[in-house]
Amino acid sequence: MLVAVFLCGCDAPVEHYPPNRVYSLVVSAKLDVPTELAAEDTTAALEAWFGTPIEPRWPVDQMSHDEAKTLVGLENLQRAAGPVYSDQSNRHFGLFNEHCVTCHGVSGGGNGPASLLQNPYPRDFRAGVYKWKSTQRGAKPTRQDLLAILRHGAPGTAMPSFERLSEDDLAALVDYVIYLSVRGEFERRMLTEAVVELGYEETRPDDDASLLTLASMDPQAFAVEVARETLDRITGQWVDADQSVIPVPEEAPADDASIARGDALFHGRIANCAGCHGKQGGGDLVTFDFDDWTKEFTEGIAVTPTDREAVRPFRTAGALRPRQIHPRRLTDGVYRGGGDPETLYRRIVAGIAGTPMAGISLSGEPSATGLTGDQVWDIVHYVKSLGEAKR
Ligand code: HEC
Ligand code: HEC
Repeated sequence: MLVAVFLCGCDAPVEHYPPNRVYSLVVSAKLDVPTELAAEDTTAALEAWFGTPIEPRWPVDQMSHDEAKTLVGLENLQRAAGPVYSDQSNRHFGLFNEHCVTCHGVSGGGNGPASLLQNPYPRDFRAGVYKWKSTQRGAKPTRQDLLAILRHGAPGTAMPSFERLSEDDLAALVDYVIYLSVRGEFERRMLTEAVVELGYEETRPDDDASLLTLASMDPQAFAVEVARETLDRITGQWVDADQSVIPVPEEAPADDASIARGDALFHGRIANCAGCHGKQGGGDLVTFDFDDWTKEFTEGIAVTPTDREAVRPFRTAGALRPRQIHPRRLTDGVYRGGGDPETLYRRIVAGIAGTPMAGISLSGEPSATGLTGDQVWDIVHYVKSLGEAKR
């Protein structure tokens, strides 16, 4: 892993964020329209609002809510971006280039040079979807969640721990991840809006609906109005993350009776964990599935992931080779997103966003369709016992 860090061409940072060409192909395939011009103008608009990898901007002037404006600090973004160096007071700059870009890529697309051989692939922050978080499935992670993944890494994957970095550096990196994520999601949504709302096709729409008005900052323009609403929606989800943390009831006693009940639930009809993880949680079932990042440019638009010819245009545009996702072998006791009881409780409730593992519905009383908090605890205890049996 250390080797990978040294592989990056850190000293010569890229001057422009690479556009999301895969997603513009997806939009084109989905809506059956050409998206070249929409992509070109989205790229220009994005640079006007969000700046460059050397000089990032946080477009507070376009945001309606104060909480969104303070979601990240411009000074932190500037420390995380740009070339790698330290100033006289030994403050570090270019943190993302130094520590992350080789895997996550300049725009956070998850397709940096060291990503090709990894499994799972590094996260594409631009989709705004995260796996290892404490919040409801559809919600953004909290800052604490992002900090936790930076501190601990994701054991069993290439994502390393950055425990040795200072609090300041970690905070700057968290801000930069949020920034790349907001920026990337804005890019995706604007590509769609350009076609659906603004009327982009082979030709550019009238001035008022042209994305080029985002650079001229004409506040009256229709395109600016659409862009502002879009940005408010995305930042709003980040602001709301803290309110979306899944409450964890007091842990039920982890005794043999609880483990036995968890065993039954694990194999039962409602949770049916065994349906994916196998009878003894051994992950030995043959499954054939992909994560949502892959499905977007394959099954989501009727392209078979294993059809190399059909996948090629997306690969050429920068997509990584489709790789199957496998249910975890729980007997290893290795948890990518953290193995403490509260984390596992939330994992079972919410499932894992972006993957086939669905959540369960919580109910106050035992029922035919949902589980109670105590029953989720029973499953946690059973899962823990699987992981500990082999040690
Ligand atoms: C050697 C490759 C590598 C490096 C270097 C690396 N990452 Fe990752 N990162 C990964 C992989 C692989 C994953 C996906 C793990 C998974 O899916 O379980 C990931 C996932 C993540 C996630 C998503 C967690 C989630 O909840 O979905 C964040 C955030 C993240 N990395 C941030 C960073 C930051 C910030 C840096 C630099 C300080 C960094 N990474 C450096 C490989 C790397
Ligand atoms: C539809 C298939 C499916 C079902 C049903 C399912 N899982 Fe999973 N599970 C997965 C997949 C796929 C992963 C790997 C996700 C990843 O690492 O990206 C996973 C990962 C996990 C992990 C590892 C989390 C980590 O931090 O590494 C645990 C624990 C887990 N599942 C427990 C459960 C339990 C308990 C249930 C039943 C309540 C369950 N799963 C039901 C597919 C499933």
